[in-house]
Amino acid sequence: MDNILKTYMGGKKIDNLPSNNVPSPKNKSSILSKNEGIKLSISSLNAWFGTKHALKNIDIDFKENCITALIGPSGCGKTTLLRCINRMHEMTPGASVKGQIILDDLDIYNKGSDPVIVKRRMGMVFQKPNPFPTMSIYDNVASGLKLNGVKDKSLIKDIVQESLQGAGLWDEVKNDLDKPGISISGGQQQMAAIGRALMSNPRLLLCDEISLGLAPIVVHDIYARLPQVTAEGLSLVIVEQDIVQALRAASHVYCLQEGRVALQGAARDLTREKISAAYFGV
Ligand SMILES: Nc1ncnc2c1ncn2[C@@H]1O[C@H](COP(=O)(O)OP(=O)(O)OP(=O)(O)O)[C@@H](O)[C@H]1O
Ligand SMILES: [Mg+2]
Repeated sequence: MDNILKTYMGGKKIDNLPSNNVPSPKNKSSILSKNEGIKLSISSLNAWFGTKHALKNIDIDFKENCITALIGPSGCGKTTLLRCINRMHEMTPGASVKGQIILDDLDIYNKGSDPVIVKRRMGMVFQKPNPFPTMSIYDNVASGLKLNGVKDKSLIKDIVQESLQGAGLWDEVKNDLDKPGISISGGQQQMAAIGRALMSNPRLLLCDEISLGLAPIVVHDIYARLPQVTAEGLSLVIVEQDIVQALRAASHVYCLQEGRVALQGAARDLTREKISAAYFGV
């Protein structure tokens, strides 16, 4: 696919948008060759809220170009893990984190790493899509680019279209782009949120329970579209409460329990029995 996002966002046409998607060969350290086939490598990660130890010695390698699911009972640390990956955890007062996370060639918690650059390399989609209610569907998706100072209208138009196509929503909304963002269904809003997250051409997309509160058929539809999103080298980490959906959507699954990895494996090898044992510790 002739990827407009890649062409433009690589810095060829936009001077004022940081080119964060293509590591220069000079920057490719030995880390990259060591971790070939791995998108994100987490080692000995620990996270706290004050004295509460929320994540305990997490070691996970997320594979490239695929969907990995994080599952586990409420409060086991799924959201905290996503927030550590994109450096949002440290924004919580009293919170702290220790360990190593490497995304491609970027050592996320290295002293020299800029949290802003880290966040730009990742997209995050939250439980509730929360479109800006007064903005049109088009402006909701374009808002990220505008915030980054992009003014070229035809460029914004191309990238909005590409993002909505990437999220599999273009055909449904292309004639309604000027309607309010909240006028489309919950599932479509969630896909538009994915489109918005794709706008900055991230290498990794983090999705935190994006199916929460949606009808099963809508959830099924969203997950049916996600593999399309992993095209072109994008990797996905999804947090999902619904085990059946997680096993269906992901190729690899990690189950957390009280802040630790209790079970992991290829989705095709995991049974309900194995997952129940990890959930309930029996
Ligand atoms: N801001 C916070 N301050 C203090 N403790 C917190 C905070 N946020 C989360 N925690 C605690 O950290 C632990 C992990 O929470 P987290 O939100 O990561 O769980 P989760 O697996 O995402 O749960 P859920 O499935 O309910 O979303 C829980 O014990 C939770 O109570
Ligand atoms: Mg959560």
